[in-house]
Amino acid sequence: MTTVAQTANKPAVDHPTAAAGANGSRFIRACLRLPVDRTPVWFLRQAGRYMPEYMAVRKHHSLLEICRTPDIAAEVTITAAERLGVDAAIIFADLLLPFTPMGLDFEFVANEGPCVHSPIRTAAQARALRTDRTDELLYVSRAIEKVAAHFAPKGNGLNPVKGTGFSPSVGPPTSEGAQDQLGIIGFCGAPFTLASYMIEGGSSRNYIETKKMMYASAPVTELGGPSFAPYAKGGLSGDRPTAFATHPESSAWPILMDKLITVLTDYAAQQVEAGADVIQVFDSWVGALSPTDYRAYALTPTTELIGRIRNLGVPVIYFGVDTASLLPAMRETGADVLGLDWRTPLDQAWRTLNHSVAVQGNLDPITLFAPEKVLEARVAEILAAAAGRPGHIFNLGHGIVPTTPVDAVLQVVRQIRNSASAT
Ligand code: CP3
Repeated sequence: MTTVAQTANKPAVDHPTAAAGANGSRFIRACLRLPVDRTPVWFLRQAGRYMPEYMAVRKHHSLLEICRTPDIAAEVTITAAERLGVDAAIIFADLLLPFTPMGLDFEFVANEGPCVHSPIRTAAQARALRTDRTDELLYVSRAIEKVAAHFAPKGNGLNPVKGTGFSPSVGPPTSEGAQDQLGIIGFCGAPFTLASYMIEGGSSRNYIETKKMMYASAPVTELGGPSFAPYAKGGLSGDRPTAFATHPESSAWPILMDKLITVLTDYAAQQVEAGADVIQVFDSWVGALSPTDYRAYALTPTTELIGRIRNLGVPVIYFGVDTASLLPAMRETGADVLGLDWRTPLDQAWRTLNHSVAVQGNLDPITLFAPEKVLEARVAEILAAAAGRPGHIFNLGHGIVPTTPVDAVLQVVRQIRNSASAT
């Protein structure tokens, strides 16, 4: 059995870039399962409609305008992080932005969410998606540069300075307060969740079209799923091998996966180059899959994407909702941190992962509407479940919803900041 001490002595420090920034940031240290002075905290959707400061900006700009204007996206990102006093800033962007350079038009319809005008249903449509225009997303990186410049450590000789390679060693904190460096989180969607928006044309309840495309992709092998061998050879160039071509659209899913991996890797690389310390991969709707289907159709492409992002030298947080039964398979992607939803107690979920990975979570976002005492008890329960073990980042189990009282979010931050040191 692995003890807490053994786990703590074996942090995932195979990230040269991350290791350089770890000393000064309790958030990055926790991603790497290094000891921290206290549990780091940030919130999914911390810049959003619950926050008056965001709504003031939204009054004058559409969601996409904010995303595509680096000055405004940076301002929204910074304002949310500073207003809440959290340990990480997630860049203001949206999961669907890569659709535009891929040639897929979409819009956000008020009160309905995203709407893709011509959903992908055939292999020909998947094949027509572009992978060569990812530079059109550089506005996100420009925003990250501005956020990184804003939060850059003052050169006091204690904190590492981004991109200089200074202070590459990972060790104990160098002075009091030296872990206060905010982490900057870049993000992208996971192949399954992005494909689901492309195929369904928007949010979905049953993912019927997505699953139809998945199931048509190839006959089930003895291992329970289709072969995704083309990834190993560096991508698909044409149709599926004829042995698999039993369905007219059998190549649609693997082509879609392949194109998404290409675009998302380039997009993540731009974000890391611009100063993102960590990349979060959102697989928000993967809980719609059974463990068998996850392994058959989503695990291989997700593992490929996460491996490529980790090769950029940053830790990866892999997040999904309703994933209790998927966690052991999600662990196999090689992600450094798994985001947990609130349906499984944190200690139980972490145990099923043998504590071999950091975890992020997992307060029910609707707890933020509860009376102070109830909220306080739920936060305390999560801290107790984490038991000071290195590698816990406090967060919600999913995003802050509109109408959430800002005071409740601030109460949680205060409680975490006052919590006993995690060592
Ligand atoms: O601080 C932050 O986290 C905000 C940055 C952010 C947005 N979208 C801005 C946004 C992030 C990290 C996202 C990711 C995102 N986008 C996800 C994954 C996160 C999750 O919740 O699981 C998903 C599934 C999307 C797709 C998306 N964007 C949907 C389904 C919707 C409509 C639903 C809703 O909440 O209204 C959006 C719109 C959206 N993206 C909003 C924001 C702040 C709200 C709409 C607005 O401001 O007009």
